[in-house]
Amino acid sequence: MKMLTAIIKPFKLDEVREAITDAGIAGVTVSEVKGFGRQKGHTELYRGAEYQVDFLPKVQLEIALKNEDVDRLVEAITSAARTGKVGDGKIFIRPLEQVVRIRTGELDEEAL
Ligand SMILES: Nc1ncnc2c1ncn2[C@@H]1O[C@H](COP(=O)(O)OP(=O)(O)OP(=O)(O)O)[C@@H](O)[C@H]1O
Ligand SMILES: [Mg+2]
Repeated sequence: MKMLTAIIKPFKLDEVREAITDAGIAGVTVSEVKGFGRQKGHTELYRGAEYQVDFLPKVQLEIALKNEDVDRLVEAITSAARTGKVGDGKIFIRPLEQVVRIRTGELDEEAL
């Protein structure tokens, strides 16, 4: 199993959510975060106005999934979140050791 963290532009959330559900993924956790990439937040536009601060608002999605679903989901998120401009975001993928579904006690892939 893997834990995928995707940082995207906030206005892309609906499109990305649709791409995730179309890909048959059962769950996602969403947070509002702030960050910067290579441009350090300076040259990127947010809603038409240049941001004066270093940190730009982003949305972070966390998705636990089976190894076999990773490539498909990365492709789905990438195409839904891309504008082609700076700040489109990143996807990080980590190994995931264990999942517990609290209601049933199921473990790992059965719990996803
Ligand atoms: N190396 C990193 N580690 C952790 N978070 C990162 C990293 N790079 C980017 N992020 C997060 O992703 C967000 C979007 O990054 P961004 O897409 O601007 O990356 P970039 O490398 O500058 O690419 P681009 O040149 O396309 O803008 C950042 O605001 C930050 O939250
Ligand atoms: Mg950037």
